[in-house]
Order: sequence, then C-alpha cells, then structure tokens
Amino acid sequence: MNKLAEAALRARENAYAPYSHFKVGAALEDAAGNVFTGCNIENATYGLTVCAERVAVFKAISEGGRKFVRIAIAAGTEVLTPPCGACRQILWEFCGDIELLLVNPAGKCETLRLASIFPRPFDAGFL
Ligand code: THU
Repeated sequence: MNKLAEAALRARENAYAPYSHFKVGAALEDAAGNVFTGCNIENATYGLTVCAERVAVFKAISEGGRKFVRIAIAAGTEVLTPPCGACRQILWEFCGDIELLLVNPAGKCETLRLASIFPRPFDAGFL
C-alpha cells in the first residue's frame, strides 16, 4: 500500500475517540517529502473535538511545514470517508486544491482533489 496511506492508518491507531468510537487518521505530505500525521481527538464537551485532518495541518504549520502536495485520510468505513466541511475549509487555506487519498484498513483507496468536493471556497481575497 501507498506509504502515505500507511502513515494515515498508523496515525489512526492513536485516535482518542471514546465518545464516537469513530477513529480517523491523517498524513499530510509537503513538497520536500516531510510527513505530518494527525488523529481525531475528542472531548467530553463534544464541541471541542478536533478532526484528524486539522490536527495534521496544525502540527505541520506549527513545525514550519508549507507547500503541501497530498493528504491521506484513513477511517474504518467501507464507504471511504472524505474530510468534513470544517476540515475542507482549513485544508483550502493551507493546501489549496490538494490531492486527497482516502483509505480504509482493508486497503480500499480513492484519489480525488479538494476542489472537486469544495468547489466554491470562501477566501476573503486577502492573499
Ligand atoms: N472526524 C475526523 O477526524 N475527520 C473527519 O473528516 C470527519 C470526522 C472525527 C471527529 C469525531 O471525533 C469523529 O470523527 C466522529 O465525527
């Protein structure tokens, strides 16, 4: 299996999801080949939960990563799980029309681009 997909599946094992039991992992790759991983981290208040994709992006940005080329997203669903709406907005901010690699533990995968599922983004026009 693709190495980035494997990294997302491994990160998924660290998911803290005692409320939903829905574990997600993400692995974000930059142009230099550096990989930043994330998992979902839930909270008893529910609303403070952070998705795997945002953890990966925020870790990457805080460590100086830029120019991202691909993100793998792993969930334990037969129908592959795309990023939620909030994560689509965050991914757009830092990654633009990035390649998404959706994967599950059985090895099923699909590649698509963010713009195909986030076709009319808000960007405020400041950049
Ligand atoms: N979740 C993610 O980590 N990424 C997504 O794109 C969808 C949802 C998490 C949040 C929560 O911990 C659990 O999955 C159920 O919604």
